Amino acid sequence: MTKPSIYRDLLLEHARHPKNCGRLESPDLRATAFNPLCGDELELTLAVSEDIIQDCKTKVRGCSICQASASMMSDLILTKTLQEAEKISKVFTESLTKENEVISESLDSLRPLIALKKHRSRIKCMKLAWDALEDCARQNQT
Ligand code: FES
Repeated sequence: MTKPSIYRDLLLEHARHPKNCGRLESPDLRATAFNPLCGDELELTLAVSEDIIQDCKTKVRGCSICQASASMMSDLILTKTLQEAEKISKVFTESLTKENEVISESLDSLRPLIALKKHRSRIKCMKLAWDALEDCARQNQT
């Protein structure tokens, strides 16, 4: 199996069977993100205790890339602190915008998404869940 087909299968698996989807009933933090290019939106709810993300749900009304990204993000940020999760988000954003092909170890599980960065119009699809995460991190600081 080639790398592109492994990545494609991983993305499809996350899109078809997303992890942690839905909405927490009494979240500690909640944010929504909107993609003005297509009108799609996403809601992120987090349960946070002592700064650690204990639970995380995403409700996605968007394309399969957006859904896969939300699913992968939720897997990656569970049990991390909000600061760690926010840092991962910033490194992920950088990796989508830089020409550089070197990918930080912390982003290993996101390689299937990063491989799509040449499709510039899909970057917002990949970023939607992460934008909501950064919004939650900001709310937590205020
Ligand atoms: Fe709308 Fe991807 S096309 S989020």
